[in-house]
Amino acid sequence: MQPGFRYLPGHLGADQQRQLVETLRLAVAEAPLFTPVMPRTGRPFTVRMTNLGTLGWVSDRDGYRYQSTHPETGKAWSPIPDTLLGLWRAVSGYPHDPEACLVNVYKGGAKMGLHRDEDEEEFTAPVLSVSLGDMAVFRMGGPERGGKTETLKLSSGDVVVMGGASRLCYHGIDRVLPGTSTLLKDGGRINLTLRRVTKP
Ligand code: SIN
Ligand code: FE2
Repeated sequence: MQPGFRYLPGHLGADQQRQLVETLRLAVAEAPLFTPVMPRTGRPFTVRMTNLGTLGWVSDRDGYRYQSTHPETGKAWSPIPDTLLGLWRAVSGYPHDPEACLVNVYKGGAKMGLHRDEDEEEFTAPVLSVSLGDMAVFRMGGPERGGKTETLKLSSGDVVVMGGASRLCYHGIDRVLPGTSTLLKDGGRINLTLRRVTKP
């Protein structure tokens, strides 16, 4: 893996995971999951999304961007919960709080193609990812599309920090392995990514 990539298996215990899922249920009731579409083509993503924080990541025909409001309700996103701010402060190595927590929900055959997280202004902050629910096959590559990649299975409670040279590397989710966790009643996977968007 690239320098600055850190894998913290089982970083969140079962109680913390359950508590996060409860918090997310309340957040989703306020800011419902939406299905983003690809810029230009309008092709839908297979994941559904929402956000927490002062900024949220959205994708529609006009492009990828961060905005302070939900694209369908027009309301501000719910705040990032303290447990996630605490996690960021403990492991990010970055002295300012994240502004966005993207919530990706994988159901059925949902996956995420190789991409780079590059819509932020601040690349010295890492992207911190939390996995909840079914195990996923995470693919990590290098800074160029088409370069060598390797896979890592992410289980519920695992935390990944993409900082340093890994911050702008290609990554994605090949597939989610059904029935590998009992955390979510209906199965599937939730991934949270905490991001610092603006330069402080
Ligand atoms: C992402 O890159 O936005 C999601 C990664 C993941 O689901 O683990
Ligand atoms: Fe990403």
